[in-house]
Amino acid sequence: MAGLLTGKRGIIFGALNDMSIAWKVAERAHEEGASFVLTNAPVAMRMGAINDLADKTGSEVIPADATSNEDLENLFVKSQEILGGKIDFVLHSIGMSPNVRKGKSYTELNYDWYHKTLDISGMSLHRTLQTAKKLDALSEWGSVVALTYIAAQRIFPDYGDMADAKSLLESITRSFGYHYGKAKKVRVNTISQSPTITTAGSGVGGFDAFINFSESMSPLGNAGAVDCANYCVAMFSDLTKYVTMQNLFHDGGFSSTGVSAAVMDKFKED
Ligand SMILES: NC(=O)c1ccc[n+]([C@@H]2O[C@H](COP(=O)([O-])OP(=O)(O)OC[C@H]3O[C@@H](n4cnc5c(N)ncnc54)[C@H](O)[C@@H]3O)[C@@H](O)[C@H]2O)c1
Repeated sequence: MAGLLTGKRGIIFGALNDMSIAWKVAERAHEEGASFVLTNAPVAMRMGAINDLADKTGSEVIPADATSNEDLENLFVKSQEILGGKIDFVLHSIGMSPNVRKGKSYTELNYDWYHKTLDISGMSLHRTLQTAKKLDALSEWGSVVALTYIAAQRIFPDYGDMADAKSLLESITRSFGYHYGKAKKVRVNTISQSPTITTAGSGVGGFDAFINFSESMSPLGNAGAVDCANYCVAMFSDLTKYVTMQNLFHDGGFSSTGVSAAVMDKFKED
């Protein structure tokens, strides 16, 4: 039986290790018949794990810093050569805040680092889309998905300046989604994922407590990384052709829940 992504060519950013959401997306996309190039920042390559994923999925790896136009151009040019045609799907699974990593609170940000956070975690989506459009590297009805978090809409104090980066990411999704949709029928969406134990996730202060809070607030519980990968695969497939410029919550119902009985129980006085 043909897979959902049979014949499709993709680029997957952000598989650092086997906990990464992008890692699971690569595994699921491979199972569904896609061929793709894996990419990550040159520094992340040194850890070496991405080569195991490449072997497992029959993929090639092209290093690219998502803040470098030159690297992104090289990535799109080479990927089309390797895969033999235009690109049908792109996963943007990139996030990093030096302020969060170094424990700077939101009211005491280092502005050089703030620039980096916005550049790496937000503006990189614009760079990716602008580069792809300039090179006409994406197929008609191509699908670009970026991963985001609900801190773009509501305050989660320990998420720091990443909240601003995610707001930017979601705004770029709408704005570029309009222009790319008009020009080439390319669709652009974000998936807003539950907290998930990964390298980036664990960098946020109090993450374990937060995962438990989120679990008890969500009627279905937290959505896991493999389920997130399944949603990405659905978004890359032709079954979701008219979905674009959306922020899609993949969070077990967290975003629509004011309070849950489990959380209320903790505040009941005996
Ligand atoms: N883990 C969670 O709780 C959670 C929840 C919602 C959304 N997300 C988002 O999911 C995405 C993937 O994160 P993850 O949780 O799988 O963690 P992860 O640490 O495995 O992935 C983050 C990736 O970003 C890459 N990266 C950092 N700087 C880069 C640069 N300059 N150029 C290219 N790549 C760069 C890292 O090398 C890494 O592979 C991120 O956008 C993250 O914000 C995560």
